[in-house]
Amino acid sequence: MASKDVQKVVPFEGSKLSKKEQIAHMFDDIAGRYDFLNHFMSLGIDVQWRKKALKLLRPLQPKTLLDVATGTGDVAIMAHRMLQPEKITGIDISEGMLALGREKVAKAGLSDVITLQQGDSETISFPDATFDAITAAFGVRNFEHLEKGLAEMCRVLKPGGKAVILEFSNPTKTPVKQLYNFYFRYITPMIGKWIARNQAAYTYLPDSVKAFPQGQAMCDILHKVGFQAVTCKTLTFGICSIYCATR
Ligand SMILES: C[S@@+](CC[C@H](N)C(=O)[O-])C[C@H]1O[C@@H](n2cnc3c(N)ncnc32)[C@H](O)[C@@H]1O
Repeated sequence: MASKDVQKVVPFEGSKLSKKEQIAHMFDDIAGRYDFLNHFMSLGIDVQWRKKALKLLRPLQPKTLLDVATGTGDVAIMAHRMLQPEKITGIDISEGMLALGREKVAKAGLSDVITLQQGDSETISFPDATFDAITAAFGVRNFEHLEKGLAEMCRVLKPGGKAVILEFSNPTKTPVKQLYNFYFRYITPMIGKWIARNQAAYTYLPDSVKAFPQGQAMCDILHKVGFQAVTCKTLTFGICSIYCATR
């Protein structure tokens, strides 16, 4: 599917690499500090966001689950605890993130249930209608071609299967909006520079959130690529949104 896509925000402006290559390099580089920074910068709220997203899949009791942009595998591991599917597959384009994820999966004794493998969400290497459920946490914003990635997620879902997408959004109410903008604009890149030693990654974060379609705009895109019964729920004053969609 050709996709006109949202405004393209890349981590390294002026680089000759594609957005996808830049993203993979960026996550390879910050992989070792990623989990710590995630929890530190969100004051641990990200764990609750992931839990809330996975709860939406409980009524479905999925036996097979695909976690796209799985990163270091937090959603895959949490999905095992909360939903007990027979098989969980995580795909990601960053081998650095996957390597850490595989260590965590092995440590949790889940290597026979959870497989983390290199894979691009825009060309998913599974046949149509393979999975009962799909999750994507903070990943779709990084796709080079958003509609292509979402259409692929729809394709590999079984009819009646559900996708749950967690993504940052921009709060609209005063004073949260102002506080959030200040934190994201000034504090986040500083933390990224000192702790992740990668200021570009943590400058890209607020820029990419700002440019990403949210709320109704994102629901419209999900409908357009073939999903039905699309819903959006905002969390923590609108800092984060959960999209739920059925194939
Ligand atoms: C912010 S991390 C999120 C990781 C994890 N889902 C979490 O909740 O912490 C975004 C991840 O998306 C991955 N990613 C970006 N574009 C991708 C694509 N086209 N296919 C697969 N993974 C992708 C990146 O490599 C990175 O690991």
